[in-house]
Amino acid sequence: MAFGFFKKGDKTEKKETTSAGPHYHNLRVKQVIQETRDAISLVFEHPEKKILYKAGQFLTLIATVGGKEVRRAYSLNSSPVSDSDLSVTIKRVEGGLMSNWLPDNIKAGSTVKVMEPMGHFTTEFQKDNKRHLVMLAGGSGITPMMSIIKTTLVEESESICSLIYCNRDIESIIFKNAFDQLQTKYEGRLHVIHVLDNAPQNWQGHSGLLNHEMLTKILERIPDWGIGSTTYLMCGPEGMMKNAQTLLEARQIPAEKIFKESFVQGTIDKETKKEPTVSGTGPKAHEVTVRYDGQEYKFVVEPNRTILETALDNGIDLPYSCQSGLCTACRGKALSGQVKLDEEEGLSQSERAEGYVLTCVGHPITDDVVIEIG
Ligand code: FES
Repeated sequence: MAFGFFKKGDKTEKKETTSAGPHYHNLRVKQVIQETRDAISLVFEHPEKKILYKAGQFLTLIATVGGKEVRRAYSLNSSPVSDSDLSVTIKRVEGGLMSNWLPDNIKAGSTVKVMEPMGHFTTEFQKDNKRHLVMLAGGSGITPMMSIIKTTLVEESESICSLIYCNRDIESIIFKNAFDQLQTKYEGRLHVIHVLDNAPQNWQGHSGLLNHEMLTKILERIPDWGIGSTTYLMCGPEGMMKNAQTLLEARQIPAEKIFKESFVQGTIDKETKKEPTVSGTGPKAHEVTVRYDGQEYKFVVEPNRTILETALDNGIDLPYSCQSGLCTACRGKALSGQVKLDEEEGLSQSERAEGYVLTCVGHPITDDVVIEIG
């Protein structure tokens, strides 16, 4: 699931055209950093015209793997204000198509096709903001947090970040040194609380699974630093986020103070099998109108196909990434008609109420569906 963070429905994302086509860029890999045994960061040079993005957004990497185009979303760990390059982190996933292909095939000097940055797990930074961000990250769910933390530390001198960061063991902590350095540089403004499933003997931090009890204990010990308003952000495995959500709700933290990002890398870096919808006496094909990039497209969507699949079959280059209803890259607003979503978790309640739909998991159920994207 991917919920917006602070600001939803932002229409200011850059729409740049490059030699790779509208909304696409061919980026040169400047460096490949081995972060842990199974995680690398790809550092990209900006193209001639700098790519604008917001802390917390993701890049969709596109490659041909086994003769087929594959797209996967990876959160940017770089900060638009403190890093001169763009950087994403890729963790190998067992059976993962792209997450294994990239580390095996991409070297410094390679070129990777990407879509422009997208995603709503982001915020507007303001110099005079004074806020306490309590962040909960698991594994490679740390990547958008890293971007948000670096940006907050630079942009908001009065804001404080407390990060609860869970990993399997000490070797699997991504950015451990970078966080140590940031804590020293921004003393008192960044507090990293490590939690390890398997901690070594001399480990000073928390160890064991981050269950309800441990999370309660940790949250109770985090001071509010004299800042009245605390916002909670989380990104990690589904189980961890569900636990945290339940706990925060039990502590009566208002929903508008809790922001979640799907565990984009781990979850969607697997082939997703969709069960075909049974046709016959059931659902019917319906015509859909999609407005995108100043063009209007009309096509008929069969009941066992999604709006996105049908558009792509017709050669219509709509934006997408995960195709699983998680990343919101394909998000559009239904101006009329009704759309049924196979997966609703990717959108927040308010987005659904405003009529937003995800074309990758969306099926028209009336003949008057008009969707506007972008
Ligand atoms: S492509 Fe990711 S939610 Fe549709």
